[in-house]
Amino acid sequence: MMKIGVWLIGARGSIATTVVAGTAAVKCGLSAAVGCVTELPSFADCALPGIGDLVFGGHDIATTPLTKRAERLAEGGVLPARILDAVLDDLAAADAEIRPGVAAAGHDPATLVADIAGFRERRGLDLVVVVNAASTEPPAVPCPEHASLAALENAMARGRSVLPPSSLYAYAAFRAGCPYVDFTPSTGVRLPALDQLARAERLPYAGSDAKTGETLVKSALTPMFAQRALRVRSWSGINLLGGGDGATLADPATAASKLASKSRVLAAALGGDVEQVLHIDHVADMGEWKTAWDHITFDGFLGVRMALQFTWQGCDSALAAPLVIDLARLMSHAYARGHCGPVAPLAFFFKDPVGEAACGLAEQFAALTQWAAQS
Ligand SMILES: NC(=O)c1ccc[n+]([C@@H]2O[C@H](COP(=O)([O-])OP(=O)(O)OC[C@H]3O[C@@H](n4cnc5c(N)ncnc54)[C@H](O)[C@@H]3O)[C@@H](O)[C@H]2O)c1
Repeated sequence: MMKIGVWLIGARGSIATTVVAGTAAVKCGLSAAVGCVTELPSFADCALPGIGDLVFGGHDIATTPLTKRAERLAEGGVLPARILDAVLDDLAAADAEIRPGVAAAGHDPATLVADIAGFRERRGLDLVVVVNAASTEPPAVPCPEHASLAALENAMARGRSVLPPSSLYAYAAFRAGCPYVDFTPSTGVRLPALDQLARAERLPYAGSDAKTGETLVKSALTPMFAQRALRVRSWSGINLLGGGDGATLADPATAASKLASKSRVLAAALGGDVEQVLHIDHVADMGEWKTAWDHITFDGFLGVRMALQFTWQGCDSALAAPLVIDLARLMSHAYARGHCGPVAPLAFFFKDPVGEAACGLAEQFAALTQWAAQS
């Protein structure tokens, strides 16, 4: 069994802290791995790395220690207070492996590459999977250097950095020989130059923007309308969220990345005729919780108009953390089987999947389990 490291970009964020604390709680038997898809019987024969065997490190631009972040998450009700004492050593061990990140374009990726390689060597790891769980960035401004690896390398050699931070991290991951997962809607790996680099290094990557709430429900419901031949006329979604993610998305330029990835499911599943209204609002008082209220209008037989509404109230990090664990385990599986380029069967986890994939949740789950069993 390979020894797997998980290098978290945004390693001091709510999701990353919940991943490290949650993994430790599962390892010492204080909590069950509820929400981990890879713990389902369908994956029992895949020989995935054990949850408790994962080793954590990462980059962040914040300096608050993980133990302090975990205390705040416990006060906010995300981490059960009863597990805190038991996971302090694991949090401290991961904290010792966090290195300063880069906040803007214009950096030499060499330090990032060395940080990841140093972690792998120090901890005796066979493989490190890099997962971007940092704050969402605004969409990247397109430039010719994004279009090919040769042009990108040329620009870098001339000291011109053209990559936003999320893409710099993807570049560094590939140069360090690591698979890369984009848990966020940031540009990240979605540039032709980086796709070329991943293929040249024979590395798999996956993304973008994990579906954990409203979009998860959307991808389960859209096939129902389509298969019952009901005509969806409009789909409106109001999202209220607190936490660091909510504060970041209060900036309209940054929210544009999230709105774009959230709206892709409907267009892909039902075509472009559905009127879509989508809002994201920051409500600081909601802390780590999120409420999505969706209102859907549709036509039935003889054009009779009807509506469906649902309300989703979720704890974002509790929904997201098990998926980070799943993705780390499945990416090590992809790597071990020589998969390179986008891993389309992981579409089940994402709002805006890379590679060719079905858009309904049930079909995506079938593709995932089939791939995991075969590959
Ligand atoms: N929680 C969910 O259900 C969910 C679902 C899909 C996507 N996401 C995405 O996951 C990301 C993390 O969410 P969160 O709730 O943990 O947010 P958070 O605000 O709690 O944490 C983000 C972390 O990223 C760090 N960071 C910011 N810029 C960085 C940089 N350039 N380099 C390194 N670190 C940097 C911040 O300091 C912070 O520690 C967000 O982009 C969010 O949109 C979350």
